[in-house]
Amino acid sequence: MTAFTYQHDQLACDGVALAEVAASIGTPAYVYSAGAIRERYRALDAAFASVPHAIHYALKANSTLAIVRLLRELGAEFDANSVGEIDVAMRAGVPPERIVFTGVGKTRAELERAVTLGLKTINVESMGELERIDDLARRHATRARVAIRVNPDVDAETHPNISTGLERNKFGIPIEQARSACRQASTMPGLALVGLHAHIGSQITSVEPIARAVAALAALAREVIADGARLEHLDVGGGLGISYNGSPVPGEADYARAVISAAGNLGLPLVLEPGRALVAPAGALVSRVVDVKVRPAGRRIVVVDAGMTELLRPALYGAFHRVVAVSRDARPEVTCDIVGPVCETSDAFGTDRQLPDPRVDDLVAILDAGAYGAVMASNYNRRPMAPEVLVDGAAWRVIRRRQTIDDLVALED
Ligand code: LLP
Repeated sequence: MTAFTYQHDQLACDGVALAEVAASIGTPAYVYSAGAIRERYRALDAAFASVPHAIHYALKANSTLAIVRLLRELGAEFDANSVGEIDVAMRAGVPPERIVFTGVGKTRAELERAVTLGLKTINVESMGELERIDDLARRHATRARVAIRVNPDVDAETHPNISTGLERNKFGIPIEQARSACRQASTMPGLALVGLHAHIGSQITSVEPIARAVAALAALAREVIADGARLEHLDVGGGLGISYNGSPVPGEADYARAVISAAGNLGLPLVLEPGRALVAPAGALVSRVVDVKVRPAGRRIVVVDAGMTELLRPALYGAFHRVVAVSRDARPEVTCDIVGPVCETSDAFGTDRQLPDPRVDDLVAILDAGAYGAVMASNYNRRPMAPEVLVDGAAWRVIRRRQTIDDLVALED
């Protein structure tokens, strides 16, 4: 199912015309399909049905409360990268024992909160962190459930800025040190070592590196179990990519086959941490054309009212997102550059794109913006954050209102 389709030449999200939403709440605005999120979640869950598994949605992809509640109702558990994400998940009704806490630089205050909450695991990034958690847990007369985050030195073959599994990256404990880290963890009275974890990167479009990382993790798990550890799960991270440009990518079934076969006959439940694959295709950023500039050589620059402040990915990674007209009419297509209003040259959504000859006040939709969109927004240029809308069946509602100037200065003297 594609959430965003044309009906009578009007782009709609599950039947709700984007023009209607824009007329009601203005632009820019994020629009998400609850149906598409449910469908992606169920497809992933079904693909892993043959093995015990838990889907821990990576909150960093999109943690608006209504989205978290929707995933919680589907049975998801959660992966948090900060105490902020843990608190948001708990406000959405998620119990702490359904949250794993990953993060390369957890402060002592964050670790203390995690230890006292009793999370499913804290995924531990270093020997120093292991010692800090042990110390805090003993002071609170408890045992913290931990998993060792392993850096398997596997190239995820994705954008270097979202690669996390190479030895030179800042993440995890190098795989050759991991067995001894596990042995040490087993001797610490404040810790219960219950898992191993790896996450090698994001927007991965070949299952081969994922399989190599899982195989390495599974091999380590066999050694660690032989050393006497009572592991409860293998956390294989997230990273499954989506197709931003329409070219084929592995689906849930290909991913599951690769992961399950790489884990072999280990018999441990798998923990999965998908973010993007569940929510990216379910969201679009709706924006209005505010100016069209025609350069002397004929180049058309279409300025829209969304920018890097709403969707940072193109400016930050050169990421590709399709931009389509909300209203399809008989106008001929022209080649144009589509840019935002922010005072930065990198504030651009694409060059040499085709759109039906754009005019001021036309609406466009920037697709596949459900993950790492709203969550990475900023107030640069004092731009208030865009509202978010959830379409569920035939109904739609605002799940986060637009920021106001009062919100923007609320913390200031
Ligand atoms: N688990 C861990 C430990 C992670 O660090 C991440 C993402 C995930 C799971 C979820 O990965 P996913 O399934 O979404 O690929 N802002 C970037 C993506 C950064 C991903 C960071 N970690 C982007 O817009 O492409």
